[in-house]
Amino acid sequence: MSILVTGGAGFIGSNFVLDWLAQSDEPVINLDKLTYAGNLENLVSLRGDTRHVFVHGDIGDFDRVSQLLAEHQPRALINFAAESHVDRSIHGPGDFIATNIVGTFQLLEAVRAYWGGLADEARADFRLLHVSTDEVYGSLGKDDPAFTETNRYEPNSPYSASKAASDHLVRAYHHTYGLPVLTTNCSNNYGPYHFPEKLIPLLIVNSLAGKPLPVYGDGQQVRDWLYVKDHCSAIRRVLADGRVGETYNVGGWNEKPNLEIVHTVCALLDELRPRADGQPYSTQITYVTDRPGHDRRYAIDARKLEQELGWRPAETFASGIRKTVVWYLENQPWVNNVLSGGYRDWVAKHYGN
Ligand code: NAD
Ligand code: TYD
Repeated sequence: MSILVTGGAGFIGSNFVLDWLAQSDEPVINLDKLTYAGNLENLVSLRGDTRHVFVHGDIGDFDRVSQLLAEHQPRALINFAAESHVDRSIHGPGDFIATNIVGTFQLLEAVRAYWGGLADEARADFRLLHVSTDEVYGSLGKDDPAFTETNRYEPNSPYSASKAASDHLVRAYHHTYGLPVLTTNCSNNYGPYHFPEKLIPLLIVNSLAGKPLPVYGDGQQVRDWLYVKDHCSAIRRVLADGRVGETYNVGGWNEKPNLEIVHTVCALLDELRPRADGQPYSTQITYVTDRPGHDRRYAIDARKLEQELGWRPAETFASGIRKTVVWYLENQPWVNNVLSGGYRDWVAKHYGN
């Protein structure tokens, strides 16, 4: 038995692979294109571990995915692979359409063919779990109830529109072909190995480098934040016992305005790594032009997952953000390699082509 993970060299995917192999001996086949966001240094602790098989490739490569499925006969596929950064999707949506929509379609085609050829028992047991985002639901007003699984899809950015399209394709493959799929829609993650283009790691890295801490617009946009390891445990839970064809919202019950996040990170750094001049890090806060089409508020109602599958996050925001800041302070070489682009040389050095 094995599972196939796509995008397992990215932020959430690599945390998932590490968590999986910390709790199970079931091998993981890890297919990743190694875009700028893929970093094999995240998985360095698995070097020499035969339970982890890394494969450099694209989910949109039907032949490659088909060959992998035939070779390893996984009992499940968990699809993390995506272009994931909203700001990049605004500057250039093309890669988002290519991977998140066309790539997911090719992946589904390969999985459909593989699944259709399985023996009855394996066919019944197979699962495709598609990892998605709360951003597909669009933006909430201040007093609106949190997103449930029945909310209308109203994606507003090229990123969220491309994820919404992939969710629809996954749904259609279940309804049309009977493919046993599960979809999770999760809120903003944070934690170790988060690429420092996203808000929380960017704040930590820029603070320490004495750079401005860019706050878009008035900083009052609200996100729900979930520690990445809690997302991993939710995915394991849904994979194990989720009802086929269902979607599950995953969230941390931690709605926070961005400015509060910025002040929390600054305060933790003031405590753990005070500035040499004794000034607080918050003096580095700089208000910058707002993101075009910036969604005002996301909030997740994760009661379905709790009531059906008994999942709740283990971390509070206070405990998770402290762990995260400490991780970045203790892993400066990882940060430096990302910032210098050195992580890409490292891949060539250790893995050849
Ligand atoms: P990430 O950008 O850190 O990682 C994406 C990974 O996918 C990278 O390793 C990249 O190399 C790989 N990849 C990209 N295109 C590929 C392709 N065509 N074929 C194979 N691999 C490819 O993203 P992340 O933050 O880890 O997000 C993982 C998934 O979770 C995404 O689907 C994202 O939409 C979803 N999600 C993310 C968040 C969040 O807060 N980060 C929240 C909810 C859902
Ligand atoms: P981000 O981490 O990019 O995640 P997402 O856009 O998927 O929610 O951004 C989180 C929030 O922080 C979002 O409201 C945009 C805001 N933000 C800033 O204010 N400054 C920044 O430099 C970045 C990257 C994000």
